[in-house]
Amino acid sequence: MLCLPGFAGPSTGRTSLATVSPGALRPGPAGPPPSLLDPAVERDPYPLYRTLREHFPLVYDAPFGAWLVSRYADVRTAIEDPRLVAPPPGRTPAHQVDGPHRALASAAFRGPAPAALAAGVERTAYVLARRLAGRREADLVAEFCHWLPAAAAVAALGLPYEDTARVHAWCRTGLDHLGGHHPELDAFLRPYLARRRAHPGTDLLSVLCTARVDGRPLPDEAVTGLAGTLLGAGGDTTARALASFLANLLDHPAQLAAVRARPELASGAWAESLRRDPPLHVVLRRAAEPVGAVPAGATVACLLGAAGRDPARFADPDRYDAFRTDPGHLAYGSGHHSCPGTLLARLTAEHGLNALLAAAPDLRWAPGFRPTGEGLVSRSPRALLVRCR
Ligand code: HEM
Repeated sequence: MLCLPGFAGPSTGRTSLATVSPGALRPGPAGPPPSLLDPAVERDPYPLYRTLREHFPLVYDAPFGAWLVSRYADVRTAIEDPRLVAPPPGRTPAHQVDGPHRALASAAFRGPAPAALAAGVERTAYVLARRLAGRREADLVAEFCHWLPAAAAVAALGLPYEDTARVHAWCRTGLDHLGGHHPELDAFLRPYLARRRAHPGTDLLSVLCTARVDGRPLPDEAVTGLAGTLLGAGGDTTARALASFLANLLDHPAQLAAVRARPELASGAWAESLRRDPPLHVVLRRAAEPVGAVPAGATVACLLGAAGRDPARFADPDRYDAFRTDPGHLAYGSGHHSCPGTLLARLTAEHGLNALLAAAPDLRWAPGFRPTGEGLVSRSPRALLVRCR
């Protein structure tokens, strides 16, 4: 059985579990533990993450209402621990999926769906990037990152391109996790479902309509729920990660040039961005039973953003290094609940980058611009102002 710092139970021999002293769980020299809800944290969470890792590796954050876990080894242990289960209703962040839909989601997105999506992603990336080609300046968040995953999903699902904006709007406002159906999206999709069930094609909606889980076809609600995940939570997370990826490369023109010259470097550059700047900073769990100091029923916040910058795991962790050779980021989670959308997300990032560089070979920051991150649970640059030519 795995255990966390200060948790009762046999040690697995993982370094941090063996080395955390009980004193580390007491308030440090600076006084009581800070909270995730401190307004300064949303502006820049990294000083808090450092304090937590160094002085409070497992601590109850009363204003946030959760136990915080911040060291890499402990975050990994916590997200893989079967005693820490899906969070309570109402505390599920946008990207976490609850209930019976989890198995369906994993099966569908790990099956043939990514292949059906790849073509849509590539086509859409080039269409969006070409629109920026003649422009002097653009905001890549509002005009590219925000649209690419959603427009690619619309294309891959075989829905009309003209409907992208309204489908995207429904998903951003109404669908925050799988199974959270948006009535307008449901009503919009139903006629397409009926047609694809009768005459399946090669698009993703047909793949989902003809998919079988445990020998049975997916019911309509499951298909619309999966389409909603793709268009909504999965797309939003990918859009945020793409924005951070572009920001990191634009901040390091030599690395950007290297990735352009050698496209095989792109997947490492993407993974490094997910380590340094994951789009989801917090993954929540609920203790199904007492786990060391954490009582049954309590919420545990696994801080992915803190884990990726842990100097005990990554050398010089604040530095973006597309050539880093020690992979192992936790941005997709780990273990049983880990993200089934990784391939799709990587394809989106790689096609997105290639398309932008093809359309705007001299892409660079607009004069004087510096990106600013925003968000606590989901975090990414608010804007990316660039010169396109
Ligand atoms: C860079 C992009 C992405 C990141 C960083 C990301 C991150 C994550 C994380 C951290 C989790 C685990 C949550 C937990 O442990 O409770 C997760 C789960 C999940 N993600 Fe993603 N995700 C991304 C893209 C996508 C996309 C594109 C899709 C849709 C195809 C997707 C679908 C899902 C689903 C269905 C789950 C639930 C899996 C389960 O509980 O078994 N994600 N994701």
